[in-house]
Amino acid sequence: MGIRILGTGSYLPENIVTNEDYTKFVDTSDEWIVKRTGIHRRRITETPTFVMAEAAARRALEDAGVSAEELDLIICTTVSNDYMTPSLACVVQGRIGAKNAIAYDINAACAAFVYALDMANMYLKNGYRKILIVSAESLSKITDYTDRSTCVLFGDAAGACVVEASDRPFASCLGCDGTGAHSLFARQHRNEIPLVELQELAEVDQFGPARDGAIYMDGREVYKFAVGAMSKALTEACEKFGTAPAELDLIVPHQANIRIIQTAAKELGLPLERFFVNIGEYGNTSSACIPVGLDQLNRAGKLTSGAKVGLVGFGAGLVYGGCVFEVE
Ligand code: UT7
Repeated sequence: MGIRILGTGSYLPENIVTNEDYTKFVDTSDEWIVKRTGIHRRRITETPTFVMAEAAARRALEDAGVSAEELDLIICTTVSNDYMTPSLACVVQGRIGAKNAIAYDINAACAAFVYALDMANMYLKNGYRKILIVSAESLSKITDYTDRSTCVLFGDAAGACVVEASDRPFASCLGCDGTGAHSLFARQHRNEIPLVELQELAEVDQFGPARDGAIYMDGREVYKFAVGAMSKALTEACEKFGTAPAELDLIVPHQANIRIIQTAAKELGLPLERFFVNIGEYGNTSSACIPVGLDQLNRAGKLTSGAKVGLVGFGAGLVYGGCVFEVE
């Protein structure tokens, strides 16, 4: 038993930011960014995360021909929610009027959409009927715009899909290495607590100095992890599915760096053309990358019946996740 994608949706903010725009406040160049990452443009907005999430959710419901009342579960994925609580999923549930759905968020960083699909699969096996997954990220709200090695990478976007149970197989491979947590993190802002004497950050925090509320990344460390994680996740998910990476018709990878995708393709012995790539236009939008890609493929008529599709993500945690399903 597996997953049928009934409909997809996405929201991409209108405001386009070019590489040239970054040269006004950090020491960088279009040439460096394109050569090292493959990114030309990304979307940046002040729009709240929940507004983007709602827009993507409504488009997915419309595409699926499913009403909000039919949903019994909403899973949202985000590392950039507007609120620490309530969850993004609860806000979306209220705004779309999904009054019969339970709703909560998960945080598995850039792998979270794959984690959410895996979770949805388990709920579907347990009798849930229609599940909405929304991955929405306003990374611009947690980006350190004084750090040239990270600020040029990130963009804002939301992607969503509605799923139900299918009798075709679904297989996944999820993994985590928390010993690499310090390589990619964003720390909460510290609260002033009048009841305790505040210690130096170094005494209470294990991750070292970084601006509060902003992403810190050791790019080289994450890069190494990402390349290995992508081929492992896809290969093992394929094994569980009863196929091989070479049999996949289409792979939608997390869009962190075109060089990571190229290296993974090489390691897997697959042509790059098999991989969906839109990093040039939208940059890295964390958990939104994969569902935005799925929506673009769906609307372009490229999720054809019988196609074997692989999804693969990796990111802060450090986590990774791959899954394989067949389009109906
Ligand atoms: O979605 C979550 C997962 N994230 C990832 O998977 C990201 C993984 N990491 C990467 O994609 C790459 O490591 C980066 C794109 C972040 C960096 O590329 P890199 O080829 O690994 O560069 P580097 O960190 O090794 O830096 C090379 C040089 C350094 O200068 P020196 O020390 O050689 O003089 C950097 O200071 O490039 C410099 N540099 C820049 N130069 C111009 C770093 N960022 C920039 C920049 N513009 N924006």
